[in-house]
Amino acid sequence: MIDLHCHMLPGIDDGPPDLATALEMARIAVADGISLTACTPHIYPGLYNNEADRILAAAAAFRLQLQEAGIPLAITIGADIQIVPELLDGLTSGRFPTMHGSRYFLFEPPHHTVPPAFRTSSSMSWRPATCPSSPTRNG
Ligand SMILES: [Fe+2]
Repeated sequence: MIDLHCHMLPGIDDGPPDLATALEMARIAVADGISLTACTPHIYPGLYNNEADRILAAAAAFRLQLQEAGIPLAITIGADIQIVPELLDGLTSGRFPTMHGSRYFLFEPPHHTVPPAFRTSSSMSWRPATCPSSPTRNG
């Protein structure tokens, strides 16, 4: 099973505060049958100032820590991107990572307003996918 949305990287957003907690999350994921997890930290400028370079570095470090701990969980990256004015520039420049380098990006709609309508066309480079935890936040 593949988990496409998880805040598992230690200490870079509101996920696990430390490595021990992150490793325990990984053990639980494996016990649940997950073999690949997309680590998708928040990108919310001013609150969670994560960008692709930082997420890639954190994932590379965590991948080694998983190996050292003997936890058979593969990880890749994406991000849980807020709808912000910087969205298209962030995707275009590569500062905001897509899912596993694909043209799909994960976005988190606003918590207190109706999300914007996305129009996609064959000329648009990216495909949005909403954060699966958002319906619980948005009611
Ligand atoms: Fe999320």
